[in-house]
Amino acid sequence: MAIMNSKRTLTDKFLPIYLEALRIDSVIDFDLYLSIGHDLVLYRAADLPFTEKTRATLLDNNIKQLFIPGGERSRYQTYIESNINQIIEDREIPETTKAGIVYDSTKLLVKDVLDNPTLSDNIRRSKDLVESSVNFVIKGQDAFHNLLMVMSFDYYTYTHSVNVCTFAVAFARHLGYSDEDFLINLGTGALLHDVGKTKISDRILNKRSRLSPLELELIRKHPQWGVDLIRDTNLVHDSSYYAILQHHERDDQSGYPAGLRGEDIHIYGKITGIADSFDAMTTRRVYQNAVETYPALKALFERENAFDRNLLEQFALLMGPREMAQL
Ligand SMILES: [Fe+2]
Ligand SMILES: [Fe+2]
Repeated sequence: MAIMNSKRTLTDKFLPIYLEALRIDSVIDFDLYLSIGHDLVLYRAADLPFTEKTRATLLDNNIKQLFIPGGERSRYQTYIESNINQIIEDREIPETTKAGIVYDSTKLLVKDVLDNPTLSDNIRRSKDLVESSVNFVIKGQDAFHNLLMVMSFDYYTYTHSVNVCTFAVAFARHLGYSDEDFLINLGTGALLHDVGKTKISDRILNKRSRLSPLELELIRKHPQWGVDLIRDTNLVHDSSYYAILQHHERDDQSGYPAGLRGEDIHIYGKITGIADSFDAMTTRRVYQNAVETYPALKALFERENAFDRNLLEQFALLMGPREMAQL
């Protein structure tokens, strides 16, 4: 194996990547490292072609995971985004690995979006990636359950955004919505649903104690701020705004920002609202431990008329008939 003489330790910032994500005969413009003992060793310098032989050698040595330097993350991300459709269509790649690649790359993209939500290119990339993920969910056998397995339930706004998008699209599919544009517009809105939070300080967002009326007022503005940010880019379909604007509206008018009645909440708002509440409960946060699927579903049902009962029942069925039977 051609190992070059360059060593770095695992303590440096490196990003693990899937070997399957690398396309044969594509030129890879980032360095590839292997983990050998306690070291990361440069295996292939950027710009060398990645051939069938390279892949075979790695597989012969039972290597499935490679590493890239953290500083080359955005190059890797661009590479994945431009190859994601081929990866999804590739029959050689196990579905669980595809789910991992889709999930990880969406997570990295959302990090960029949250760092710079007004950058049009980031929003365009989100739309493209949601399109590919929707495709994955539509065509992939059991794609949602594979995604569930790779999902991270440690709370960060970016993992939360990807989780809500995944739940929302799978939920809509489960409800019988099959139109691709319907699912893409929902998924894009769901992925961006909390983008307005970028205007609120982490101190307020992560506060453990009770929020002051002023802080609460700020929090309640994030749906509208999100729409304002996205509208400025002119890249997202108008219907996606419903997921952003209405994900905190509740059927019994207890929600915000408008306190809408159930019949006035768009289906995107309702779906994203359920996906959002469920994910918020099942992920670990600074101030809260995660709860399991069943207690989370139960808590949603206990909120009487806040959510559309029919939809909640369907959501529980999606998450697992076993859970449903206990409710
Ligand atoms: Fe929110
Ligand atoms: Fe949220």
